[in-house]
Amino acid sequence: MKAKQSVGAVVGIILCVCIVATVSDRAKAQSGAQSQTIAASGPKTAVQQFKNIQVLKDIPADELIPTMQFVATSLGVECEFCHVHDAFDKDDKKPKQTARKMMEMMLTINQENFDGHREVTCYSCHRGSTNPVAMPPVMSAEMEMPANAHASAEPEGATTKIVGGPTADELIEKYLRAAGGSAAINKVNTRLMKGTISFGDRNIPIDIYSKEPDQRISFVHTPDGDSVTAFNGHEGWLAAPKRPVHEMRGPDIDAAAMDADLRFPAHLKEICSKTEVRGMEKIGDHSAYFVDCERAEKTPLHLYFDEKSGLLVRLVRFGETALGQLPTQIDYADYREIAGVDVPYSWTLARPGGRFTIQLSEVKQNVPVDDAKFAKPSAPPEEPKAPTK
Ligand code: HEC
Ligand code: HEC
Repeated sequence: MKAKQSVGAVVGIILCVCIVATVSDRAKAQSGAQSQTIAASGPKTAVQQFKNIQVLKDIPADELIPTMQFVATSLGVECEFCHVHDAFDKDDKKPKQTARKMMEMMLTINQENFDGHREVTCYSCHRGSTNPVAMPPVMSAEMEMPANAHASAEPEGATTKIVGGPTADELIEKYLRAAGGSAAINKVNTRLMKGTISFGDRNIPIDIYSKEPDQRISFVHTPDGDSVTAFNGHEGWLAAPKRPVHEMRGPDIDAAAMDADLRFPAHLKEICSKTEVRGMEKIGDHSAYFVDCERAEKTPLHLYFDEKSGLLVRLVRFGETALGQLPTQIDYADYREIAGVDVPYSWTLARPGGRFTIQLSEVKQNVPVDDAKFAKPSAPPEEPKAPTK
């Protein structure tokens, strides 16, 4: 776990920082445009880009690494559990060979039992361990404790069904009003945020600049230099000291577009093509309504609105991979009013691979921000992998 922090942390942070607060209906149009450009230049499949693909042949090449992240977190292991260091194509390790069989097995289970719907994934059996448990455990002391027994009857994450509560539309309306109303929100053109990003026991200063429409850049001031996460309305990229610029793809673009939307509460109604109130959940000390928001041709969003204030306290989004989805959960807190708009001064982003918290100390709205701030560096992007025969 510690070793992972060193290399992983830098990439982890920059990947994470892009994920802050908001969604855009315009992102739909953008990702549509994006897939067209890809189609024009011919999307590479995994088998075309990598050397030794036997099962995941036809998935988009871009999806291979996220799929590997899904596999690694499902089993609770690092890449090296299956892979020889720096020679990912080699089949020297037994677990890699087993994993390939397991992929076939998983696809067959779903094909033959669930009409091809991906109901069973690696995580269904493995649950973060290499050895799935086949037997129920005996009762432990903690399970016997009445206090804990009560706590486990209503753990965080359990949804309680409700009858006759507000509709999803009413909750989204209430959120918009609580966040300041569309008139005030539609006046926001730029936002400057300064604060601290904390992960583990590290605290690093961060600056974030946002500008309509959908432009956002953040600078994490690490001792080695700035880690940058940026989205210019169409393209996203990550830059870190001594690393090539890394282009964002697929679900990361979707997430970045969401985060760059300064008027998210006003756009939410259009973003969701279908909504449903699923029930109530406990989020920290708050009781919140859980609304499922389906989006056209995209993974859904899970929205949690504080029962009292109506504000968004949690948003969960899902990154698609070939074998399952990877969730990202963002908890918003410390809402403060600035020029009639309620802005979260703190948010915690958690994913299977890690979590961080951003606490803002200063927010300014509608101060001039030059478009040049969001210009993509001209340095050549990351070398594409050498094509293989
Ligand atoms: C549980 C085992 C397992 C883990 C953990 C795992 N992989 Fe894989 N990986 C595989 C298998 C199996 C394949 C081949 C898939 C196929 O044949 O379709 C593969 C293929 C690859 C390839 C393609 C190599 C080539 O050129 O053919 C890359 C790159 C890769 N993995 C990267 C990663 C990374 C990065 C991680 C960590 C995030 C990771 N893998 C974690 C099992 C694993
Ligand atoms: C239906 C349940 C099930 C599913 C789904 C499943 N596995 Fe497994 N997997 C098992 C079991 C059970 C074992 C342990 C077998 C044993 O102990 O010999 C195992 C063992 C493994 C091992 C060997 C671990 C070791 O210690 O060497 C790997 C690697 C693995 N699975 C990867 C995967 C991957 C990757 C997926 C998803 C593509 C997956 N499994 C999906 C049940 C499952």
